[in-house]
Parts: sequence; C-alpha cells; structure tokens
Amino acid sequence: MIVDSVLNNAKAYLKGEVVDCCFAIDEGKIQKIGRETNMPKADQKIDLGNLLVLPGVVDSHVHLRDEDRAHKETFLTGTAAAAAGGVTTVLDMPNNSPLTMSREALSNRMRLAGRRVLVNIGFYSAFPAAPEESQAIAAEGAVGFKLFMAEQVGRLNINDDQAVKEALEVTGKLGVPVAVHAEDHDLIKHRVDQFKLSKRHDMAAFLKAHDEQVEFAAVERLLKIANETENARIHFCHVSTQKALDAVAQAKVAGKMVTCEVTPHHLLLTKDDYERLGVFALTLPPLRTKENVLALWSGINEGTVDTVGSDHAPHTLQEKDSASIWDTTPGVPGLETTLPLILTAIHQNRLSLARAVQLLSEKPAEIFHLADRGRLEQGRNADLAVVDFNLKFKIDAAKFKSKSKFSPFDKWEVQGKPVKTFVNGQLVMDEGEIVAKAGVGSVVRRLQS
Ligand code: DOR
Ligand code: ZN
Repeated sequence: MIVDSVLNNAKAYLKGEVVDCCFAIDEGKIQKIGRETNMPKADQKIDLGNLLVLPGVVDSHVHLRDEDRAHKETFLTGTAAAAAGGVTTVLDMPNNSPLTMSREALSNRMRLAGRRVLVNIGFYSAFPAAPEESQAIAAEGAVGFKLFMAEQVGRLNINDDQAVKEALEVTGKLGVPVAVHAEDHDLIKHRVDQFKLSKRHDMAAFLKAHDEQVEFAAVERLLKIANETENARIHFCHVSTQKALDAVAQAKVAGKMVTCEVTPHHLLLTKDDYERLGVFALTLPPLRTKENVLALWSGINEGTVDTVGSDHAPHTLQEKDSASIWDTTPGVPGLETTLPLILTAIHQNRLSLARAVQLLSEKPAEIFHLADRGRLEQGRNADLAVVDFNLKFKIDAAKFKSKSKFSPFDKWEVQGKPVKTFVNGQLVMDEGEIVAKAGVGSVVRRLQS
C-alpha cells in the first residue's frame, strides 16, 4: 500500500510520553505510528527534524465573526491565525450577526465556513426560545450551546430560572454541553446604571461593575439550577476567580457533570496590567488580582481546570478605543499566542507537558465529543502541531494572521514556537507561512448518539 505521506524524525507526545517515531498518513487519518523501517511507501515524505509533535490544539472558545462582522475577522483570517498558532480545531461562539440560533443559521454558517477554513471548525448555538428548536439545532450538528448570563444573547430569558432549567434539561438529555459565560446580568446592570448616572466612564468603574462577586453570583445560580436537572452538562468558560473555581471544584466532588476553562490572559496577567495596557487588555471577565491568578494555577495543577481556551475575540483598533469605557468592545485575539505562552509556562515549570496537552487538546476534544481528534493515535485524524520547543522568539502582534493586530502579550519573549501545522494530514502552516488552500479544514458536527 502506498500512503499519502510519511512524516519522519518526530519526537511525538504519545500516551503520556515523548517517543521517537514516524507517522504514516492516509486520507487525512493517522494510518500508523512507528519506526522508520516499518513505514509504508508514501507519495511524499517530510522530515520533521526531530522536533516535538503534539496533537493540534482544540480551541473550544473562539469568535470568528464572519458573515456580517467580517470586518473584525473572517473564517479565512481566523483559521489562518489558528494554523499559525498550532490550533487545528476551533469551536466558534454564536454571538455573530446573524446570530447562530436556528437550524438555518447554523447550516448556512457551516456551508460558508466549509469553503473558507484552513483548520477544522465546529459551531455553538445560542439558545432559541423553544426547546424543540434546540433539538433541531443539535440534530444539525452544533457541538454545544452557549449561555451568556451577562446579557441575553439568544431568545432564552436568562432571568427565568425555570426556562434556563428546561434549556439545560433538553440539551443535557441530548448529551450536548452548555458553555457558560458566568457574570450576573442584574448585578452588572445595576452597577453600570449607577456609574452612568454619576458620569463615570473610566476603567475603575468598569472593573467594579464586573467584580469578583458578579462572576461568583452567576456560577452559584447556575449550579443551583443545574442541580435540579437530571442531565445538565455545564462547561464554565474563562473562570477568573478563586471563589468561582472553588464552587466548580465542589460541584465536581459532588459528582456533577461540570467542567471549566481558563484563558491564557487570566493566567498570565493581573489587573495591574491595565495601567500599562489599558483597553487593549480589556476582556470580560476582566483581569483579576494576583491571588486569583495563583488560584487558577492551582486549579490547573490540581485538576479542577479542564481546558485552556483562548477566547479569541477580535475587534478593530477603533472599536477598542472609544471615549467611554461602556462603548469599548472587550476581547483580545488569542489564537496565535496560546500555544507559545503555554509552552513557555512549561519551561518555567508552571505545568507539565502532559498537563498542557490535556488542557489544550485531549480534554476539549473529550468534552465536546470530538472522538476522532485531540490525540495522536492510529485511526484518528492527522491534526498535528509541530513545535520548536526550545526556540525563543518575541510575540509580534503586527504580524498576526488575525485581522486583530494587537495583543496584551505583544513583545513578550516566549519559548516554544509552532513551526508546522497539519490539518487532516495536510501541511497548512510551514515556518509561519500558510501553504494550503482554504477548505482543507473540515466542518465538525456533533456525532449523533
Ligand atoms: O471579552 C470578551 N469578548 N468576552 C465576551 O464574553 C465576549 C467576547 C466578544 O465576543 O468579543
Ligand atoms: Zn468568548
């Protein structure tokens, strides 16, 4: 048999250890992992020069914006950024225009993305008004639903506990996870109204309006609602405080189907960085105190944290730079910085390589039922991130493939660079250049059970 390609001279992370090996790839799948002498004949051979090969990153928190907000990012620019960062699968959040919230909107988005993506892409939906609509959306292949508790994004009334409970029950029964942005709407609104009345438009007011209590109140409320259901599967996005993380840890101990994510910006920056970075580090939830950051690292190492997601949230520079803080768009791009930052943290002994691979690839693939991705194993899709683990370089946001050419990590010295990215067996990024055509990524649909 002649396979499509053989990748020689890899140091690959396989089942918990780094092993010298080669990969045979055929029709997008890993056909064999083994020694060079045992490799089949191949149409092409690529020498990986003894570099470290990791499963491609599965980033379960990405805003790609395309369709009416293409001025911020498109499927092509966003997935080029992903490939540049060693990310081989992205899960797209639904707060787009048009909103991803119906069977039609979802299938249209899938159709458009199919021709334009350089990495694999799956889609979340916002919650529609009626539970039957959620079932139809799940049947279309949404990998998850997103519940924004800070402000209503879909048609589900976020202040109605009973309606939220039903929504969790319906999706839970289908085995579909619900990703949650946990910030309490009422608390935020009350505070923002007060600040606006007293003509406060500054960063300190913004931080106060989104303080720790706002996150904790939402986490507590949702866990209480989920507790009253049989099947809810909750995945808390971008957990940023010790209190919220403790509540998640307790729910896990009690045997609930609860998982959580942290972002690199909440792990590596603190609220003191706003003095230096201003609105270019503004995200929701905002950056926190050093104590909270340390708690997140404990959560990483003790196992409470399940995934690291970038929350890649591109905006234009004009949108970031508004006269009033209340009109400024929160969010920073992260697809091109997540893997180098986490590799750097490994060099600094802040986490192990095994833990990093779990957080970046294995766990997100597991939580979102991407059974054939997330690990380097025979039979799985050949999604690979080849990294020069020891190479030091400076993050340069001006060179991002993303339309958003800023970063709170701009000019940071990091160690560990993605140098080749393979998606479905095809070389998509080579030494920073995109070398494949749009469409090599697959649209990932939830597998029907
Ligand atoms: O910082 C954020 N940006 N947080 C969110 O919840 C939304 C996101 C966005 O869509 O820009
Ligand atoms: Zn987000």
